[in-house]
Amino acid sequence: MELSVVILAAGKGKRMASALPKVLHPIGGRPMLQHGLDCARSLDARRCCIVVGHGNERIRAAIHAPDAVWVEQAEQLGTGHAVAQALPTIPDQSLVLVLYGDVPLVRETSLRPLVHAAADGALAILTVELENPRGYGRVIRDATGSVRRIVEEKDALEEERSVRECNTGMLAATARSLRAWTARLGNDNSQAEFYLTDVIGMAVQEQVPVFAARVEDPAEAMGANDRVQLAALERAYQVRAVRSLMLGGATLLDPARVDVRGAVTTGRDCLIDVNVVFEGDVRVGEDVTIGSNCLIRSSWIHDGAVIHPNCILDGAIVGPDCQVGPFARLRPGAELLAGARVGNFVEVKQSVLREGAKANHLTYIGDADVGQAVNVGAGTITCNYDGANKHRTVIGAGAFIGSNSSLVAPVEIGERATIGAGSTITGSAPAEELTLTRVKQRTIRNWKRPEKKR
Ligand code: UD1
Ligand code: MG
Repeated sequence: MELSVVILAAGKGKRMASALPKVLHPIGGRPMLQHGLDCARSLDARRCCIVVGHGNERIRAAIHAPDAVWVEQAEQLGTGHAVAQALPTIPDQSLVLVLYGDVPLVRETSLRPLVHAAADGALAILTVELENPRGYGRVIRDATGSVRRIVEEKDALEEERSVRECNTGMLAATARSLRAWTARLGNDNSQAEFYLTDVIGMAVQEQVPVFAARVEDPAEAMGANDRVQLAALERAYQVRAVRSLMLGGATLLDPARVDVRGAVTTGRDCLIDVNVVFEGDVRVGEDVTIGSNCLIRSSWIHDGAVIHPNCILDGAIVGPDCQVGPFARLRPGAELLAGARVGNFVEVKQSVLREGAKANHLTYIGDADVGQAVNVGAGTITCNYDGANKHRTVIGAGAFIGSNSSLVAPVEIGERATIGAGSTITGSAPAEELTLTRVKQRTIRNWKRPEKKR
């Protein structure tokens, strides 16, 4: 049977105290709502309906969901009302799985049993046993242990509040049943809302089996209503993310001090020191060492490379056995081929350093092709920008650039050429030769240094 996922995201999220709609606040670097969409995708849902209200336009603009069906709930009259807004876009025979835009950590493996039970004709709900159930709807069972209904905390009797089995809010049933049930919902309750949870009682009355699956990990049911809960969710997400790196063979010297805000893969025997932040898509090969205090964004680090402490990599490719840093900055389009080295206070942008090339100190390399085994001396600058256009610098294999040289692009340095220290190179420098621009050194005899009057 085909599956439709409905994600509820119309609420205002007042307690976030934010101009940003709640479901756009990020967990692991991605908006909370995006996590629900990814979940729908991994369940092979035929369609995904997102119910939006507050911040509607902003949410649509921020979320990448080309195949989603957007449904507007103009007034937030309750979760049951929200689901009812989505049902006209879903055919009767489809299964419907309801997710919440602000509950991002639910696992696909916890949802699959709900979908299967719904396919067998049940109303399936996901529950969680909580130490502190405050604020949640409670699952009320009869003497035989069968679920009878869900009662919201605000409507619950004293003894019902002592129940620790809570409703996560996520449920599955056929669209046909949900349509019939939500049409009959009333709002005669303490919040004057149309509660989705009232469909459980209806199913029981109609002797439709109610299947309740319980999640083991309470993080899966956690929602973010304020920024304290947002931080708790982020932590829970990070615990999961670094765990999978460790199980894949990476050593994290302190897993609580590595953050993953994107999709990261690490090869075997990587060593990652503290305060490393990964963002975007990052691929790290085997035997890579990443020192402390590094930000690695959308980059690819090949086997055996060493990133020393305090480096920033953004859109960079680091080849096998390269050495980077400490204190290096690799900007978008920086590519280091095997064995290349970039040292402290070196910035590289839109440039390739070919095999074994070195720029070890205090250098800017932009829009350049640096040949094999080139040695770029300390303080070398590629002057790539004339105020309007960017120009390229090409340095042939084996060239030696003396310290403190300015290479004014466009410029070409031949293979095995040598540039004398302190030169400003504006024309091409021939291969094999020494090229330099330098005022001849002179000494002024008997020159007196000015002295302070006593
Ligand atoms: C709901 C459940 C409660 C459960 C809890 C778990 C109901 C009546 N109660 O309570 O049993 O324990 O979630 O977190 O369902 N939303 C809309 N439109 C609306 C109202 C809500 O889209 O008109 C969305 C919200 O944006 C949110 C979600 O539905 O993503 C849940 O709504 P919320 O008001 O937070 O429900 P709770 O009171 O937490
Ligand atoms: Mg809530």
